[in-house]
Amino acid sequence: MKVSIIGTGYVGLVTGVGFAKHGHEVVCVDKDGYKVDMINQAEPPIYEKDLKKLLEKVVSDSKLSATMKTEEAIRDTEITFICVGTPSKEDGSVDTSAVEKVSEEVAGALKKKKEYHVVCVKSTVTPGTTDGKVLPTLEKSGKKVGEDFGLSMNPEFLREGVALDDFLNPDRIVIGGIDQRSQEFVREVYFPFKAPILLTDLRTAEMIKYASNALLATKISFANEVSRLCEKMGIDVYDVMDGVGMDHRINRDFLNAGCGFGGSCFPKDVRALRSLARKEGLKTKILDAVLEVNQEQPLLTVEYLRDELEDLQGKKVAVLGLTFKGGTDDVRMTRALPMVEGLKDEGAEVIVYDPMGMKNFSKLVDGIDYADGIEEALEGADACIIQNDWLEFKALKSEDLAGMRRKVIVDARRILDEEELSENVTYIGVGKG
Ligand code: UDX
Repeated sequence: MKVSIIGTGYVGLVTGVGFAKHGHEVVCVDKDGYKVDMINQAEPPIYEKDLKKLLEKVVSDSKLSATMKTEEAIRDTEITFICVGTPSKEDGSVDTSAVEKVSEEVAGALKKKKEYHVVCVKSTVTPGTTDGKVLPTLEKSGKKVGEDFGLSMNPEFLREGVALDDFLNPDRIVIGGIDQRSQEFVREVYFPFKAPILLTDLRTAEMIKYASNALLATKISFANEVSRLCEKMGIDVYDVMDGVGMDHRINRDFLNAGCGFGGSCFPKDVRALRSLARKEGLKTKILDAVLEVNQEQPLLTVEYLRDELEDLQGKKVAVLGLTFKGGTDDVRMTRALPMVEGLKDEGAEVIVYDPMGMKNFSKLVDGIDYADGIEEALEGADACIIQNDWLEFKALKSEDLAGMRRKVIVDARRILDEEELSENVTYIGVGKG
């Protein structure tokens, strides 16, 4: 099929490359000429595992190209996926202005199109947006939904860092449609995929995305709350969650206690669901607690250090890991930020290192030092906090800590094996008791 994708962020580009791999002819659209040029040169504008290799292949096979010309791209394709950003507003509600703006451009293109065309929203939008905002905008084209064009909502469930793999091997594909014809059209695009397909109406598809992310975030905050109790009782929360997760009704995923969840989805989506509920006059006691636990969790690491070092004033603390998780350069809502700010508030001298997140993190905070590598970060440090799970942090050994003044390690992701560390290392694992 001929597919256009509007927005070449990580969702749009991964979707485009994935569809092109399965033989569709894909054109990616972006307003940013620099990104368009990069994609046409098979250079991904974002870092995502395996993306470069596959992008090179689909570009050289002429299965994927990029353009700034929205109207032309829509005219020459059968279906358009809207994959633009939907950031949080101050009050937690979702800013859908980019989706609405793109819908206007799509309407302009539909006006001139004779053949049936399907518009599919992939951006994360709260229930009621696709039929309440996108549809009326598309109808301004004078074309009729159900006759001239179809409308669908197809949420993404891509984890950054493994987004391509998640796209190509999904657990399920949710296709919301305004009618059966729209649903079937989108199902056609997913024809080569093996995953179960769930067909729903538009609002259900929108809600599935929010409810999924809110439940995953709830699992994490739950594990973090149990972790605090485990610490007091001398129990290791990781052993507890291994046992809990063996129940197939629960499963072990997303029960890792640590310093909380960050990233572009969980914090934003939980806040959006809460804001939506409030608009409907409902209370959200669970979601409120999920966010509260998540806000407190990174600051616990600062407390552990205060307890261990007595006073953080003038102490040199190294923070390893700045991105919201390993394997990405993304620092959105990273737990490193409250952690670093908490350390600074206590008067600590903070030095940080991350294999990919230094540039982005430096835009968020002032008054800290940046090291070129782990060794430099640890040199003369009184303590170190491991904030994310990059492989090179997992590989840390006692000898790598040789340059530290005091060998105090707070492992906020539980990636080190305490047994492997020598006796002169004080190891504090979150939730270890
Ligand atoms: C998430 C969802 O997983 C994905 O389906 C959705 O579409 C986008 O949001 P992503 O934000 O890329 O993906 O990262 P994910 O791997 O889910 O982790 C989110 C955050 O939770 C990270 O900060 C991670 O460190 C943290 N986390 C995850 C935990 O603290 N404990 C866990 O057990 C799992």
